[in-house]
Amino acid sequence: MATLYAASDFTPATVHAVDEKHPETSVETIVAESSDAEVNEEEWKYPYPTDFKLDNYPIDQQPRQLTVAVIGAGLAGVTAGILLPIKVPGIRLTILEKNNDVGGTWLENIYPGVRCDIPANVYQSTFSPNTQWSEEFAQGPEIRAYWQGLAKKYGVYQNVEFRSKVAGSYWEEKDAQWRLEIEDVSTGEKRTASYDFLITAIGHFNDWKLPDYPGIKDFKGHLRHSSDWDPSFDPRGKRIATIGNGASGIQVTPELQKVAKHVDHYARSRTWVAGSFSGHERKAEPMLFSEEKLKEFQDPAKYLQYRKEIEEAYWRRYESQLKDSPANKRATEEFKELMRKRLTEKPELLEQLVPEFAPHCRRLTPGPGYLEALQKDNVEFIQTPIERFTEDGIVTVDGKHRPVDAIICSTGANVDFAPPFPLVSGDKDLSKAWRPEGEDGFPYTYIGLATPGFPNLLFLHGPNGAGASGTLPHSVENQATYIARLLRKVSTQGIRTIVPLKEAADDFIQYCDAFFPKTVLSEKCSSWANGRRPGQRIHGLWPGSAAHVNHVRRDPRWEDYRYTYVRPENRFAYWGNGWTKKERDAERDIVPYLKLPEEIDLRDYHESWWDL
Ligand SMILES: Cc1cc2nc3c(=O)[nH]c(=O)nc-3n(C[C@H](O)[C@H](O)[C@H](O)COP(=O)(O)OP(=O)(O)OC[C@H]3O[C@@H](n4cnc5c(N)ncnc54)[C@H](O)[C@@H]3O)c2cc1C
Ligand SMILES: NC(=O)c1ccc[n+]([C@@H]2O[C@H](COP(=O)([O-])OP(=O)(O)OC[C@H]3O[C@@H](n4cnc5c(N)ncnc54)[C@H](OP(=O)(O)O)[C@@H]3O)[C@@H](O)[C@H]2O)c1
Repeated sequence: MATLYAASDFTPATVHAVDEKHPETSVETIVAESSDAEVNEEEWKYPYPTDFKLDNYPIDQQPRQLTVAVIGAGLAGVTAGILLPIKVPGIRLTILEKNNDVGGTWLENIYPGVRCDIPANVYQSTFSPNTQWSEEFAQGPEIRAYWQGLAKKYGVYQNVEFRSKVAGSYWEEKDAQWRLEIEDVSTGEKRTASYDFLITAIGHFNDWKLPDYPGIKDFKGHLRHSSDWDPSFDPRGKRIATIGNGASGIQVTPELQKVAKHVDHYARSRTWVAGSFSGHERKAEPMLFSEEKLKEFQDPAKYLQYRKEIEEAYWRRYESQLKDSPANKRATEEFKELMRKRLTEKPELLEQLVPEFAPHCRRLTPGPGYLEALQKDNVEFIQTPIERFTEDGIVTVDGKHRPVDAIICSTGANVDFAPPFPLVSGDKDLSKAWRPEGEDGFPYTYIGLATPGFPNLLFLHGPNGAGASGTLPHSVENQATYIARLLRKVSTQGIRTIVPLKEAADDFIQYCDAFFPKTVLSEKCSSWANGRRPGQRIHGLWPGSAAHVNHVRRDPRWEDYRYTYVRPENRFAYWGNGWTKKERDAERDIVPYLKLPEEIDLRDYHESWWDL
């Protein structure tokens, strides 16, 4: 017969006292020392009493259904809307979007000439491609239709609340939730809603800005930002000023030149006009796919082969970002030659346009048709800085007044990446802290995805989010996947809050500070990657290639975060009652790891979360 012990011999106080005195004493020792205290079977109790109570649920029954708000339904919000519900069981997702539909950039930008300067077969989701793009570099409406189609196909619309503009977001420590102030943009009414997690997917260029020149309010003609194009505006026969030679200005100016009476093109900075990102020459006219080619693409194997070839070039182009690299030197020579060839009618423009900084310091602007437009008789290219606007035109600092009927500002967006609404935790507001004059002075993040002091807040395609190579949709999918892993950890491991450590964020910034000087991004140019302030920290891009960030995000470093728990008394409380639901469900495959041996890849064997 087994020896039994009286429960009274092992009160918590007894065990505690022994432990404190002899921390090395194990409970086995205590049991052995008490072995002469024999009791009968009825009185026996397991001799390790605890106040901790088990929850009565199986570990795989989601104890916590996270409420998650994503702000923005551009391609990042749509991607989150597809991946998060599949990858995070039990998630209750809401996407808040100020517009009437999904698409973001591709919904809002309808200016003449808007199109992708990355091939359409590359600039699309990795998992649900359109094999039938009409042209190599698709126009805005076709890209918009693609992302809207994807949102329909994957049921994203059911989780989007449209016309819902987030006007402020506040961390409520006692509830461990984000309280959002949401404005109905049709009625102006405000409401509040709270969520366990907040993910911003507000884009880099959505908060577009008109310049703040004196007199801008006095101008009586048509004044618009190109991202706010008025479809009823007819540019035919008008005198028009276009301001800015970023990618938008470079696209819209040639389109206006074709129909306007006259175009004054104000471009205060020099810029490189490239062939394309991947080395393929681009033409100004649409590069349509032939019927034959599109038919060939219907063969999945042939399309995959084509896609792999074309996409690979975008992953292998990182070298050109590095200072004095052969690839960057080659780009310098090639772009100069290409610009020279295109400027035959006004060769003097070459000297005016070629920058002192290396290609890729500013994002490349292929702009087919731009240099050709600058040489037309109805275009004046003006580099003299603008001094002020008047009732009927623009005055430059040399005192010259040029009257116009319309001014189209392609002057970019709020590229300091500070959120365009209060985003507050404690006494810190990121919309202020991240501005150049703010507490941080730049977007201070942990690997572009989160920031210290702001629990349960994540950024999707935020500062330092994407590498300068690879493809943007892939990068966003990759970030959404990292976020999904983090949310899955929180929802299945009894975590209440998760926040990156300051030391980890500081190490990330230090890495950035050591890395970016090796790249041409750190040269003296105005770009959205540096907030249009040469010398400002590079916050627009990842410190490394797209393949590099792929590595970093594949395995989250959980040790870089601090956690609080739903049941703080025991980190394993989420283990529940020691069972799984699955093993008690006769219909479920409890031995999914048994497969045909040839189907097993030992590299990720026993690692997937979904067939546990
Ligand atoms: C004209 C143009 C052309 C471009 N072409 C290319 C290209 O060829 N290749 C390339 O790689 N990139 C290109 N880009 C960059 C482009 O922005 C990204 O590729 C991509 O579309 C970004 O998607 P996103 O979802 O992160 O942001 P966005 O598309 O900007 O979407 C952000 C969404 O958030 C919403 N939102 C913002 N604030 C709030 C708020 N407070 N409340 C509620 N909703 C809010 C917006 O309404 C919007 O729908 C281009 C950008 C522009 C402006
Ligand atoms: N597919 C495409 O071809 C395409 C099209 C559009 C946009 N995009 C993407 O969107 C990004 C943003 O492009 P963007 O053209 O909208 O913005 P951008 O690249 O930031 O360019 C803004 C332009 O406006 C000028 N500017 C800003 N403020 C000004 C002021 N007060 N007075 C005079 N000029 C002023 C800037 O000049 P300074 O340089 O001197 O500051 C710059 O030339 C691109 O880099 C690209 O990623 C892509």
